Amino acid sequence: MTKTVKDYIRAIHDFPHEGIIFRDVTTLFADARGFRMAVDQLLHAYAGQRIDKVVGLEARGFILGGAVAHQLSTGFVPIRKKGKLPGTVISEAYQLEYGEAVMEIHDDALAKGDKVLIVDDLLATGGTADAAIKLCKRLGAELVGCAFVIDLPELGGRKLLEDQGVTVEALCSFDGH
Ligand code: PRP
Ligand code: MG
Repeated sequence: MTKTVKDYIRAIHDFPHEGIIFRDVTTLFADARGFRMAVDQLLHAYAGQRIDKVVGLEARGFILGGAVAHQLSTGFVPIRKKGKLPGTVISEAYQLEYGEAVMEIHDDALAKGDKVLIVDDLLATGGTADAAIKLCKRLGAELVGCAFVIDLPELGGRKLLEDQGVTVEALCSFDGH
């Protein structure tokens, strides 16, 4: 039977904590057919739509987002964890399981009215993507959507993003986490 994107994702039990099943996309990215399929399928939903910039979220969103941007012939813009970008940044804090984290974007990375597609590997609580949406909007960009390989629906991220009117695409989902 033909393998789907989901079939290439490896489950690692008890990482990073006991009881957690880590959905490992390195096995998807490492496979020529798997990676090609993931990038093609992510693009499929946006065929015919104007996209000016692909915004990738550190770290695994860089791998996918770079490939998506190349395929679309657009520029790529990184959103990184605090302290990594060298230029002047704007910041947004978001909640982690324990405590808070901060995402940053260069303040000149997007122009007003730019149509942006946010790309990351996985949507869980949606905190990371929500911070990214806020950063893009603060720079005056317009969201075309957020694209993920994996959605963990039980954690509510899709609802958080869709409730703000942002379109969410995910190639597969897993119950439990
Ligand atoms: C993971 C994943 C997403 C985010 C999703 O990244 O790659 O970016 O969590 O979680 P959320 O929807 O609850 O915000 P992580 O923060 O582990 O960092 P990494 O990608 O740099 O490894
Ligand atoms: Mg991440």
